[in-house]
Order: sequence, then C-alpha cells, then structure tokens
Amino acid sequence: MHVDEAISSRKSVRRFLPTPVSADVVRHILEVAARAPSGNNVQPWRVYVVGGECRDKLCGAIVEAASGDPDRHQPEYAYYPTSWFEPCLERRRRCGFGLYAALGIARDDKDARQRQMLRNYTFFDAPVGLIVTLDRRLNTGSFMDVGMFIQNILVAARAQGLHTCAQAAFAWFHKIAREHLPMAASEMLLCGIALGHEDPEAPENAFITERADLSEFASFHGCDVTARSDAA
Ligand SMILES: Cc1cc2nc3c(=O)[nH]c(=O)nc-3n(C[C@H](O)[C@H](O)[C@H](O)COP(=O)(O)O)c2cc1C
Repeated sequence: MHVDEAISSRKSVRRFLPTPVSADVVRHILEVAARAPSGNNVQPWRVYVVGGECRDKLCGAIVEAASGDPDRHQPEYAYYPTSWFEPCLERRRRCGFGLYAALGIARDDKDARQRQMLRNYTFFDAPVGLIVTLDRRLNTGSFMDVGMFIQNILVAARAQGLHTCAQAAFAWFHKIAREHLPMAASEMLLCGIALGHEDPEAPENAFITERADLSEFASFHGCDVTARSDAA
C-alpha cells in the first residue's frame, strides 16, 4: 500500500468485527511504528497491548466506573482547552453532529449519546486495545514524539488491512488501568487505541470527517510552488 493511501484511508472506526488480530501482526505494527522520530531519540512511548481476558476485565472495570460517577475520574494532562474558540469550536461541533447523525442519534437524546460514549471503553468492540503512556518526568515536547508514534501505529495498521481509533477517553481512567496493567508510577496514560477489523456495515464507520482547505492552514513564503509541481 502506498503511504499516501495508508494515510488517506485511515479513519476513526467505532465499530469493529470480532475477527481476531494475531499478536505477531500487533508486534509488527509496533516495531514499524517505533521508527518514529523523537527529540534526541529518547523514544518516550510505552504501550500495553491488551486482549482476551485482560482486555475484558479492564474494559468491564472502566465501563462500570464511567457509568457510575465519571466526574471522580480526571486525566493527568489537559487534552482540551477550558473554553473553545473558532475555528476549533465549529469543527468540533461538526465532528460530533456528523457522528451522531450517522448513528441516527438525536441531538437531545442524552441516553443514546451516553451509550455511544461508553462504547469507547470496550474499544468499540475491537479485539485488541493499546494503552499508550508517557513518562511524566519528560516535558511537553515529548507529546509530539508520542503523537508521531501513535500516528505511525494508525498508518501501519492500515498496511495490515486493519483499522483503528485513537481514544483519549481512556486518559480519564488511568487509576483503573493501573490496577490491571504494570504501569510505573512515573507513567502518565495518554490514550488508548482500538485495533481490529472494521465492521463495513456499521453506519458510524461510514462517517468521514472533513478537512480544512490547504489555504486555511498553510502559507507559502519565498518558494515557487508552481515550479515545484511542474517538476513533480
Ligand atoms: C489523540 C486522539 C484522541 C482521540 N480520542 C477519541 C476518543 O476518545 N473517542 C473517539 O471516539 N474518538 C477519538 N478520537 C478520534 C477523533 O475524533 C478523530 O480523529 C477526528 O474526529 C477526525 O476523524 P478521523 O480520525 O476519522 O479522520 C481521537 C483522536 C486523536 C488523534
């Protein structure tokens, strides 16, 4: 698969088939992903691969906690701003509305939204879940490094015919994850990743998010873009 196709065909899949994924394939994806660059090559990522009984117990405990008093659980880093602003606000809205529309969930149907939110904690039925952590003694720059590693996992999964969903939702439940995984006290849970085979019939998987036009996020200064595209 051409790298452009692997990147472009990646999307967040939120319903997976029960088809198993072998440990060898997961190992391969992680070995490829670990070629990600990192400042001074410190390779600050750590990954816990969960499947089978371990996955079921972890998911069961988090679903229970998230269904009870979710406000008791807080992430160890702030992913989102405390107040939103444009154009992020509008993009965020479109993303949420688009997903719920694909699922046929009405905007005011809080119960259905809550049920969909809870599906995060079963890795959207994926047979394999990854829990990604970062040593908290590192600095904010390392978030870039781990982000590159995460994206490599998502893209390398495509080359194996698999799909993924990155899931910051797990960051809220790091205390519970610690009860199921041998995480050191110095490790901060950044996110989960669902990994498996896409359910092609699921309406939520047909939701393809849009992207801003190139002109909205890139500007060219002192380079002759026309000459470059002629040469390509
Ligand atoms: C670090 C990270 C964390 C995310 N966390 C969640 C999550 O907890 N639950 C979820 O359903 N989607 C999550 N997403 C998926 C985003 O909503 C998705 O990437 C975005 O809407 C763009 O859609 P696409 O991935 O299909 O291109 C996350 C994505 C990233 C990169």
